[in-house]
Amino acid sequence: MLTLLKLLKDGKFHSGQALGVALGISRSAVWKQLQHLEAELGLSIHKVRGRGYQMAAPLTLLDPADIKEQAPSCDWPILVFDSIDSTNAEALRAIERGQAAPFLVLSERQTAGRGRRGRNWASPFAENIYYSLVLRIEGGMRQLEGLSLVVGLAVMQALRDLGIPGAGLKWPNDVLVGQKKIAGILLELVGDPADVCHVVLGVGINVNMQATDEIDQQWTSMRLESGRVFDRNHLVAQLGLMLQKYLARHQIDGFSAIQREWEQNHLWQGRAVSLIAGVNQIDGEVLGIDSQGALRLKVDGVEKVFSGGELSLRLRDDS
Ligand code: BTN
Repeated sequence: MLTLLKLLKDGKFHSGQALGVALGISRSAVWKQLQHLEAELGLSIHKVRGRGYQMAAPLTLLDPADIKEQAPSCDWPILVFDSIDSTNAEALRAIERGQAAPFLVLSERQTAGRGRRGRNWASPFAENIYYSLVLRIEGGMRQLEGLSLVVGLAVMQALRDLGIPGAGLKWPNDVLVGQKKIAGILLELVGDPADVCHVVLGVGINVNMQATDEIDQQWTSMRLESGRVFDRNHLVAQLGLMLQKYLARHQIDGFSAIQREWEQNHLWQGRAVSLIAGVNQIDGEVLGIDSQGALRLKVDGVEKVFSGGELSLRLRDDS
């Protein structure tokens, strides 16, 4: 089915007969595959009598050679899938199989994309970026301190450089434009964090997506913000370069060297918020973060510090 897609992705007309010859199948088998492409991947294909089939819009698929050419210093192997449950889950399986880190897992779509706090991550085919970079961490806990915030900063910078100037951060590691989420980050860790472990830096960026009924919070995409269609290979390359830069700084100088820059880009700095932890809610004012990336809130006039993967922030109505 995806071989057929690769023939059609140029956005030109292809006759059923020519497609059948190229694939070694009958014209009616071509027709069936096209129906599957539309139903399963949500793609729109025009059928014009006498001319054949044409994708409603040309499609650029992920291409490791193109990515490597644009980011030669990112010399990690790239595993690209047409479809996978979750790039983070596949990355964890690859670690189990003994794949040497660093390596990168990408997919055109995810059938069970994972978000934070058990949520689903909307992952339609060939529209967005589903990116999992695996690192081997040998430096113990210090190398993990604030790591997810550093990834958020790198994602935000990559988006700004590519023409989304309004991208900013929300603790702990959402990237927003205004109140709308444009990218999310999910770190997963295996091994002994105090000794040697592997960490999967999972990044989802809404790139060319224009509509979905799968997201129950305010969201946006690079295309919706700018009116432009983005080349995902270019974005993957730029993201790799930016991650390399920030991860090197983090590794050498620790998170405290990045703390100020992170705070300067925190959209909710000084705002009145509610911190949600399961059924508990704590109201306070955002003071910033500490040298390990934990959230500093003024609660009833007293500074308190919060950290943990299950926490989330909401703006208070009166802020
Ligand atoms: C969030 O809830 O904000 C985190 C979303 C993280 C989504 C990305 S997409 C690539 C990687 N694979 C996953 O299953 N999840 C992360």
